[in-house]
Amino acid sequence: MTEHFDLVIRGGTCLTPSGRVEADIGVRGGRVAAIGQLGDANAAETLDAKGLHVLPGVIDSQVHFREPGNEHKEDLESGTRAAVLGGVTAVFEMPNTSPSTTTGAALEDKIDRATGRAWCDFAFFVGAAAENVNRLAGLEQLPGCCGIKIFMGSSTGNLLVREKGLLREVLQRGRRRIAIHAEDEDRLEERFEYARDGRKPYCHPIWRDEQTAILATEKILSLVRETRRRIHLLHVTTGQEMALLAEHKNLVTVEATPQHLTLAAPDAYNRLGTLAQMNPPIRDEKHRDALWRALADGIVDVIGSDHAPHTLEEKGKPYPESPSGMPGVQTLVPIMLDHVSQGRLTLERFVDLTSAGPARVYNAARKGRIAAGYDGDFTIVDLKAKKTIENSMMASKCGWTPFEGMTVTGWPVATVVRGNIVMRDGAVQGTQIGGAVRFHDTGG
Ligand code: DOR
Repeated sequence: MTEHFDLVIRGGTCLTPSGRVEADIGVRGGRVAAIGQLGDANAAETLDAKGLHVLPGVIDSQVHFREPGNEHKEDLESGTRAAVLGGVTAVFEMPNTSPSTTTGAALEDKIDRATGRAWCDFAFFVGAAAENVNRLAGLEQLPGCCGIKIFMGSSTGNLLVREKGLLREVLQRGRRRIAIHAEDEDRLEERFEYARDGRKPYCHPIWRDEQTAILATEKILSLVRETRRRIHLLHVTTGQEMALLAEHKNLVTVEATPQHLTLAAPDAYNRLGTLAQMNPPIRDEKHRDALWRALADGIVDVIGSDHAPHTLEEKGKPYPESPSGMPGVQTLVPIMLDHVSQGRLTLERFVDLTSAGPARVYNAARKGRIAAGYDGDFTIVDLKAKKTIENSMMASKCGWTPFEGMTVTGWPVATVVRGNIVMRDGAVQGTQIGGAVRFHDTGG
C-alpha cells in the first residue's frame, strides 16, 4: 500500500539519535511518521534535501522580543520571522518586557499576541519578583510557560532579585528549572564609577568585571546546594565559573552564547563600540578560550542567542547611556556552523547544544530529535555554502548584527515547523503557524 505523508524531505543526510543516515523523512499531522527510503510514498509536498544536512529543529532558549512595550525594537512577528530565516524552529522568550511577565495575565497576553503572528513555536518565561514569589509554583505550571527567570543583577527592564533571602524563597517555590542571569548587584553598584559619563564601551567588562559574575554564581550555587533546586545558568562568561559549574552538574545546566564564543575584548569594543555592549559583557580571549574548553569538555549544555535588539539610534547614545544587548536569533545557526566548519565542534555536538540540549533542560515535549512521534521540526543546512552576513539580511526591527561583514561557511537553507515549510532559501513562506511548546513537567 502506498503511504501518504503531508511532507517528505528527500535524500538529505539526517542527524538522528543513532547517527547520520541518508534517508527520507515523512511527516504526517505535524509529527515524524517515517524515516527511511520512502521512494514510492505519496507526498502532498516534497522538499529536496540532496547534498544538505537535515538537523532536528534548533530551539533558541534565550530571546528578548520586546512585545509588549517596546515594539519599535522588535515584536513577536518580526522576532520569530528573524528566527525562521536563521533556521530556528522554536524560541523561549524572556520576561523583561514592559510590563514584565510576572503574572498569569501577562503570560496569557503574550500567548494571545503570538498566536497567528509567530512564524515558529514559542514559550515564555515568567520573571521572579518579590510581588509574585508566593505564586511562582502555580505560574510555572501554566501552558506556554518554559520556566522561571531570575535577574540577579539589573539589566534591561526592571526585574531584579538581589537579596539572598528572596532568592532562597524563589528557589523553594515550584520545581521546574530556573534560568539565572548571574551578576552581583552590590558589586555593580560599588564599581559604577568605571562606567561613569565620559567612559568608553571598552570599560563595560571593567565595570561588570569577572568577579561580578563569579560572586553571583557562587551565591546562587550555595543556594542550589541548600535547596537542591535545579537551575540553568545563562550566558556564562568566565573560566572560573565554568570550573565551579563543573562541580555542580547534578543540579546545574549551562548556556554559552555565540557572541561570547566568537567576539573578544579589546577587538570587539574597538570595532563595534556600544554595539558590543551586552550583559554579562564580552570578555578577553583568555575567557573565550575557557568557554570553548568548557564546551569541548561537556560542561556547556545549551547554546542560546540572548537575542536582545536595540535600535541603532539607542545604541548611538554615549556610553553608558547606551542600552546593553545585541541581536542574535538569526545568526546563531550560521555563526555556530562556521565554528563547525573550522573544526571547533562537530555537527553532532551542535545538534546536542541547540536542539537536544534545550529540549532536555526545559523538558520540552516531542522536541529535540529526529525520531518517530516527535514534532516535524527541521533546520536544513548547506554546510558548504559560503555567505557574508549583512545588516540588510536581518529581519529584526533593529536592522543590524554584530557580525556584519563576516563571511561564514554553513548556512540554513530551509526551516520546517511541525511539517510546515516556513523558510526556503532566505525567504519566509506559508503562514504564521507558530504555537505554544508543551512541556513534560506540566503534563506535556
Ligand atoms: O545585554 C543584555 N540585554 N543582557 C540582558 O540580560 C538583557 C538584555 C536585554 O533585554 O536587552
